Amino acid sequence: MEKLMVEGGHPLYGSIHISGAKNSAVALIPAAILADSNVSIENLPKISDVETLASLLEDIGGSVTYDGTLMSIDPRSIIPMPLPNGRVKTLRASYYMMGAMLGKFKRAAIGLPGGCNLGPRPIDQHIKGFEALGAKVTNEHGAIYLRAEKLTGARIYLDVVSVGATINIMLAAVKAEGRTTIENAAKEPEIIDVATLLTSMGAKIKGVGTNVIRIDGVKELNGCAHSIIPDRIEAGTYMIAAAAMGKEVLINNIIPDHLESLMAKLREMGVNIETKDEQMRIGTSPELASVDIKTLVYPGFATDLQQPVTALLTRAQGTSVVTDTIYTARFKHVDELRRMGAEIKVEGRSALIHGKASLQGAKVKASDLRAGAALVVAALMAEGVTEITGLEHIDRGYEDLEDKLLALGARVWREELTTEEIDQVKSS
Ligand code: EPU
Repeated sequence: MEKLMVEGGHPLYGSIHISGAKNSAVALIPAAILADSNVSIENLPKISDVETLASLLEDIGGSVTYDGTLMSIDPRSIIPMPLPNGRVKTLRASYYMMGAMLGKFKRAAIGLPGGCNLGPRPIDQHIKGFEALGAKVTNEHGAIYLRAEKLTGARIYLDVVSVGATINIMLAAVKAEGRTTIENAAKEPEIIDVATLLTSMGAKIKGVGTNVIRIDGVKELNGCAHSIIPDRIEAGTYMIAAAAMGKEVLINNIIPDHLESLMAKLREMGVNIETKDEQMRIGTSPELASVDIKTLVYPGFATDLQQPVTALLTRAQGTSVVTDTIYTARFKHVDELRRMGAEIKVEGRSALIHGKASLQGAKVKASDLRAGAALVVAALMAEGVTEITGLEHIDRGYEDLEDKLLALGARVWREELTTEEIDQVKSS
């Protein structure tokens, strides 16, 4: 077990390249199950969630070759084997195995998904969609069993705008008989990315990126090659780090449109941002103004950037209010930021951040992926050395975090935990 050591206070200067989007990758890999021949996916991020999904596909008979950024999946030998336990429970996105297996085999048995603990994360809308398509869904000893004689297109209204439910219903519906309409669908770029892959396989999907998606079922889906879009949340995290400590940071391989809401808020704080094609430049921001932020579904401000931006706002002049309307309990990072000297109060679904805090290096623990990102941003600003444990969360979603930070001039390194520290981490 390791900890990340960050010596704060060093300005960031240089350029980095953004990896492929984690939240696309974790849906695209299960989507390959639906094909009748080889699917190759390029620009994959080197993160543990990708490795976990690849091994899940192998567990059910898939043949996977993976060289770090390119994965080739031959799904022809996959069988609808139950996956009630083990690795499926380590990441939330394993729920995409439900839609893909149901779509292909008309049955699936998958353990209830794990992943970041951000408060209640029900999957009732996924199940509502599967049932509308004709599946019988039961929960047996902590695993979801889906069985259908046949899948028939249906009109499905999502009661909650959900990324996962929108993608999962698409996966199940592409081979259903007739037309499926998903109303109140989510519009995130990762959904468009998944629909692009499915369309290359031969699926008939219209309306992705709007709140009504229409899918006309097809009998067969062929293999294809697909390249993943850049990770807007990884890019956003480095934008926030650059706003915190940047002197001159170039962020390459981005789609600026996907980052509009974050750019708007950073500019409101006084951050100097320029974009050109697939590149962004962030200059020095000597003084930051406080802002209020509310997370919303895309294209609103992403909940995944709420935690890192909260860390940044400890540097701003005045008090900021950050409200998370998507995950109302996504505030586990706040206690850790307080250990570093931040003045933050959580009231209901809002964090009130009193700025101008002088953060100090401390021993802190990442409770989830983006909490880890928030601690890294805070550590870059803090005086002294911060020791961050819980790296398994950060490694789920950030490729080569240290190398990218080192390229920007940060002082970061990993150290092995002592036996005593391992005991402390386990008991905290
Ligand atoms: N919800 C329901 N019922 C459902 C599904 C969702 O009530 O059946 C609620 C959730 O509890 C939440 C809201 O709807 O309050 C939105 O959840 P959504 O389904 O959109 O989230 P998700 O698909 O489980 C994905 C990302 C998350 C990201 C959210 C919101 C993946 C694998 N995960 O989760 O990413 O926070 O969308 O944008 O795509 C992360 O990357 O750190 C992360 C947690």
